[in-house]
Amino acid sequence: MDKFVIEGGVPLKGEVQISGSKNAALPIIAACLLAPGQYILKNIPRLRDIRTIAHLMRVIGAKVEFENHSMKIDTTHADFPEAPYELVKTMRASIYVLGPLLTRFGKARVSMPGGCAWGPRPVDLHLKGMELLGAKIELDRGYVNARADKLRGNHIYFDVSSVGATGNVMMAAVSAQGTTIIENAAEEPEIVNLGEFLIAMGANISGLGTKHITIEGSSELHPTEFTITPDRIETATFLTAGLITRGELTVTRCQPEHSHEVLAKLKEAGAKLSVELNSIHLKSAGAIQPVDVTTAIYPGYPTDMQAQWIALMSVANGRSVITDMIYPDRFTHVPELRRLGADIVQKNNSAFVKGVAKLKGAPVMSTDLRASASLVLSALAAEGVSDIHRVYHIDRGYERIEEKLKKLGAKIERTDDGKMY
Ligand code: EPZ
Repeated sequence: MDKFVIEGGVPLKGEVQISGSKNAALPIIAACLLAPGQYILKNIPRLRDIRTIAHLMRVIGAKVEFENHSMKIDTTHADFPEAPYELVKTMRASIYVLGPLLTRFGKARVSMPGGCAWGPRPVDLHLKGMELLGAKIELDRGYVNARADKLRGNHIYFDVSSVGATGNVMMAAVSAQGTTIIENAAEEPEIVNLGEFLIAMGANISGLGTKHITIEGSSELHPTEFTITPDRIETATFLTAGLITRGELTVTRCQPEHSHEVLAKLKEAGAKLSVELNSIHLKSAGAIQPVDVTTAIYPGYPTDMQAQWIALMSVANGRSVITDMIYPDRFTHVPELRRLGADIVQKNNSAFVKGVAKLKGAPVMSTDLRASASLVLSALAAEGVSDIHRVYHIDRGYERIEEKLKKLGAKIERTDDGKMY
């Protein structure tokens, strides 16, 4: 298992290029099952999760070639409509094959995703959506067995705005008979990018980026070529790394309009920002100001940036409160940040942070993808050396993060921690 060894205290300087979005690429890769043939996807990030879904696509019978940041996917001979537990247990997003398999083969057997580090993450809305499109759903020994001779359009209202359920239902509805309307749909840029991909395949979708999406079922879908949108969470993570280290940097090949809320909070915290079409320049100025954050669905403040914000507020000049309304239990990073000297009290779904003058390097343990990003940011700001264990978590969603940080001047090394857990 790898670990990172970080010597903190170096202000990050220079330019960093943002990779394609993990959370847009995952459903788009699954959507290639909808119509047999060859697809070319560009700006695909080189991540562990992308390798997992590529492996799943191969299990289903697709051919997947991955070179640099382009992926060639041939689903002509896909014929095995199943997502086995071994793969789904490593990545919940495997559930995204449910809609495409049901559409393509009229049946699907998909393992139910288990729990995750920070509590229950149900998929009831995915299943409700499929049933409303006419599928028969049966749960059997940890698997979803879904069947439908022909999916039919329907009016679907989601009690909770869900990124995953909106994406899965959109994919199942594009070649269903008739019209589907999704109410309280997710407005996230990753869902808009998925919708743009489906339209490039010949689908008829309107209302992307709003709470009301309309899909006219079509039987004319065809393979296509498509470029994945930049990763807004990687963008926000590097900007926060620039501020927590009191540095000056530019993130390039990003989409600033996808990060309005985070940019507004960074400004309140004291960052000087200049925003161009596809790049953002950040300059630190003086002390970091304490700023409260409450996470929300898009375009609110993303829960995937909650842990990184707590890291920043740990060295702010005062007190702040960070509340997670999407995942109330998403605080597994707090005890580890305390090991680095942070002063945080967690109560229910809020963290009460009192900024300290200096964090101190220590050995810490990653528990999930964004929690590990918060540990890396804190270690970069801390005095002395930190060992960050289980960095396989961060490799799930950040492409070669240590190399990108090194280019910005960080003292970071990836080493084998000699442990086999
Ligand atoms: C997506 O997860 C992202 N993952 C998550 O990012 C992100 O945290 C989340 O959206 C929220 O923004 C991917 O895109 C692969 P949801 P998803 O369905 O689709 C409840 C990362 O770090 N819900 O929008 O699983 C759910 O419990 C990952 O990259 C139901 O109740 O999230 C949660 O409270 C972590 N029933 C809320 O909705 C359902 O069937 C939002 O979940 C589905 C969801």
